[in-house]
Amino acid sequence: MAGTKFAYVRNFELPDSVIPSVYLVVRIDGKGFHKFSASHSFLKPNDPAALELMNESARYVMASLKGHISLAFGESDEYSFLLRKSTTLYNRRNSKITTHIVSLFTSAYVFNWNRFFPDTPLKMPPSFDGRMVVYPNEQVVRDYFSWRQADTHINNLYNTTFWALVLQGGLTEQEATKRLEGTVSAEKHEILHEQFGINYDRLEAMFRKGTTLVWTHAQAQTIGGGIDAEEDDASDAEQAKPVLTNAKDEKLRIKIQAKRAAKQAKKQEKKERKNLTGVLRTLHCDIIGDEFWTPAASEAVSTAAPASVPASALTSATSSRWESSIGDSEKTATEATVADGGMTSSRPWKDPARLQVAGLGTSVFLD
Ligand code: GTP
Ligand code: MG
Repeated sequence: MAGTKFAYVRNFELPDSVIPSVYLVVRIDGKGFHKFSASHSFLKPNDPAALELMNESARYVMASLKGHISLAFGESDEYSFLLRKSTTLYNRRNSKITTHIVSLFTSAYVFNWNRFFPDTPLKMPPSFDGRMVVYPNEQVVRDYFSWRQADTHINNLYNTTFWALVLQGGLTEQEATKRLEGTVSAEKHEILHEQFGINYDRLEAMFRKGTTLVWTHAQAQTIGGGIDAEEDDASDAEQAKPVLTNAKDEKLRIKIQAKRAAKQAKKQEKKERKNLTGVLRTLHCDIIGDEFWTPAASEAVSTAAPASVPASALTSATSSRWESSIGDSEKTATEATVADGGMTSSRPWKDPARLQVAGLGTSVFLD
């Protein structure tokens, strides 16, 4: 129908492609989750099932857009997705990318609801909004994620103290708000410790640090090393000697050989990149400091099982609703490991593999 008299309306659609070679971050946020969480009786201040459902939805987004998104960070009812600066997804069109991510996330949230809340029917359709922000370089991207993680910390310390005062201290919500007015971080730590015997630093890392999802390498490896390098030397030497006596044929042979070598190099590069970004890890770690972003001191990168949770692991986990965050969280990750023989399938956020993070962010800024 391109030629009809109505076709001119297409001119009202304005291009919204984002410039090349910059980082794109799409942040999605639950709409009206204050009400949504109350009507589905989310545990206070943190509901691990609700957070794990958010994480699972974000993992679905990352798996669906593999190669385009390198990192995601989530807390409460929000998730931020970092797109590679080289991405050509939807020709880098802002609206298409943003709406697609929001849609993938929301449908995964609804699709997986029963696995995480088997005893709580979904009472209303949840929805999320989304926005895209363009960031020019790696430093600003890191600062963006530091900002979100600092926000997680501030909110969580406040909420943990607030709900301890209400649920354990017997204050009304108004009284708790008043009690916390003007308090600094150290005072909140003190209230928790003195009044409720809670050591804030021992609460679940998922609550304090949010969740970071990253495509990373499977295990220790040397890139472009050893055998391949020797093979290259050998073939270089071979190439230097003429093989065919006819000069024209020899020229053609060299051309074919060079083409083959270029193809091989490309294949190798692809393989190396795949190795570097082959595994989706779920982590609860500090992403403000350098440890996550810079190569680990030793080449012995963690070979622990990747922390993405198999679907089956969560089905049984949620049949008995996960308990309140405050009481249970005094158990350390190590204690939990011993009890579960290594894989804390019923409480995946306690899996020690989610806390071993040194150098896992080194592939985030690959093109
Ligand atoms: P809009 O985003 O503006 O639509 O508002 P909102 O109601 O979604 O609130 P906002 O995004 O500012 O904050 C998220 C809200 O979700 C929190 O204030 C909580 O009420 C709720 N929430 C998120 N995670 C949890 C949780 O683990 N437990 C409980 N009880 N509530 C949660
Ligand atoms: Mg919200």
